[in-house]
Amino acid sequence: MGRVIAISNHKGGVGKTTSVVNIGAGLANLKKKVLLIDMDPQSNLTLSLGVQESEQTVYSALKGESALVPINVYKNLDVVPASLDLSGAESELASEAGREYIFAELLEPLRNQYDYIIIDCPPSLGLLTINAFTAADEIFIPLQPHYLAIKGLTKIIEVINKIKKRLNRKLEITGVFVTQYDRRKILHRDVLETIKTYFQDRVFFVQIRENIALAEAPSVGLDIFRYDPACAGADDYARLAKEVLKMEKKMADNTVEA
Ligand SMILES: Nc1ncnc2c1ncn2[C@@H]1O[C@H](COP(=O)(O)OP(=O)(O)O)[C@@H](O)[C@H]1O
Ligand SMILES: [Mg+2]
Repeated sequence: MGRVIAISNHKGGVGKTTSVVNIGAGLANLKKKVLLIDMDPQSNLTLSLGVQESEQTVYSALKGESALVPINVYKNLDVVPASLDLSGAESELASEAGREYIFAELLEPLRNQYDYIIIDCPPSLGLLTINAFTAADEIFIPLQPHYLAIKGLTKIIEVINKIKKRLNRKLEITGVFVTQYDRRKILHRDVLETIKTYFQDRVFFVQIRENIALAEAPSVGLDIFRYDPACAGADDYARLAKEVLKMEKKMADNTVEA
């Protein structure tokens, strides 16, 4: 059974989509079978991977018009694309019975076909994010090293706790990491320390540095490893993917202890 990870932060521009693409590609490079899912109506993940428009999207699946149909991106990396009409899904599904579980049910047949399923969440905490959290085992939160970065998380933590209580008991925040990091800046180092005090061992050792290649790669539809394998961004995401993989061992050890 694969790990299902939602990458979420209701703040936009913190590096969610960049991290879904490049943690996913990093894990695929480590011979894992990876599925990425675009839950954001802005379709940034779909566009970043250079995937063509498709009839079968997250939206058509949520509406009951298709299954979740993965498209192969590159070797063992697949994606279920989004489309702009996904923005209508929240209101269209609002009165459906069991509306929080629609995506979890759709994901069920895909769970054991992949080692990793990584969901790119929209920058909000509406029904799409709730569907992602109901289906996920884990949440990763990317943060920019700004003042108040943690204060803004009160809301998402509240939502996660409610979902844990009512819809998905196994859900946990298992990874928090800093993106667009510049260790020469005192503010960035200070914020990282605050994040470590708050989230403790759930903070990844790796920080993602500010690196222009990470911002360029989506324009040609490539992940960072195919765009510029020698850049700092490729190095950081390769190390982050290894850290994600290593968690498997830690989790297995904890299961034995329990
Ligand atoms: N480490 C980084 N260095 C430089 N630019 C980055 C980095 N991470 C993300 N970006 C750029 O910042 C913008 C926001 O990132 P994105 O991943 O789209 O955030 P989100 O999905 O949270 O809205 C994008 O233009 C992206 O290319
Ligand atoms: Mg995004």
